[in-house]
Amino acid sequence: MEIIIKNDAESGSNAAARAIAKLVRENPNAVLGMATGSTPLNLYNELIRMHQEEGLDFSSVTTFNLDEYIGLSKDHEQSYHRFMWDNLFHHININPDNVHIPDGMATDIPAACSAYEKAIVQAGGIDIQVLGIGSDGHVGFNEPTSSFASRTRIKTLTRQTVADNARFFEGDESQVPRHCITMGIGTIMNARMNLMLAFGEGKSEAVAAMVEGPVSSIVPASILQHHPTAKIFIDEAAATKLRLADYYRWTYEGKPEWQQDA
Ligand code: GLP
Repeated sequence: MEIIIKNDAESGSNAAARAIAKLVRENPNAVLGMATGSTPLNLYNELIRMHQEEGLDFSSVTTFNLDEYIGLSKDHEQSYHRFMWDNLFHHININPDNVHIPDGMATDIPAACSAYEKAIVQAGGIDIQVLGIGSDGHVGFNEPTSSFASRTRIKTLTRQTVADNARFFEGDESQVPRHCITMGIGTIMNARMNLMLAFGEGKSEAVAAMVEGPVSSIVPASILQHHPTAKIFIDEAAATKLRLADYYRWTYEGKPEWQQDA
């Protein structure tokens, strides 16, 4: 794991955007795994800026989103479809045929999940997966005790996640779907690189458990300790509970130039 501590969410997100831009410039057919939630918004704004001002070209890029609520149509205000088009895809030159987001209205959910897994394989696998972390340590919607071997499937949200996400549903927990489709932890671990973003004091405990705690399904994100190329972009507030924060800063500041890809 590489822990990158930046002063604020904006500089952390910009560093993550540089890693994505580097990949897309080297490989215009790159396959990107996308995340939703409030965390990646700065990252998506920076990718939009890079597209508009620097010509970053997404025309041959393929994307796969982590998850979607079950029961929300694509145009529902809080669907992750809507989120991705409003916050990123409408503002870059992505080919809509190359965008993949789990279908929360699928009639045969297990079939839709296995088709999603197949589509990822057919695309050649995910080069960079963007991740956020839930306050309970979830990645995608893989809640605590999710199998580390899991693939795309239906999951039930925890009460804590429903409460956390109620802010997007006018604070009304009863409006938050209880079920979702999410890539599995096994799916996420197959990505060639994982970029995790976490900002703010509210994420500090989950970040410490992910980075320095034991690897355990009770903190699903802790599996990233077993991923060969996981970069964790956090701000100072999210770093407050890390025992080795000084070491991570020292390592990042001392990176040789040839290794500076973010
Ligand atoms: C949501 C999403 C996750 C996201 C997490 C954190 O429930 N399914 O992909 O990383 O919770 O959300 P936020 O970035 O808003 O804190």
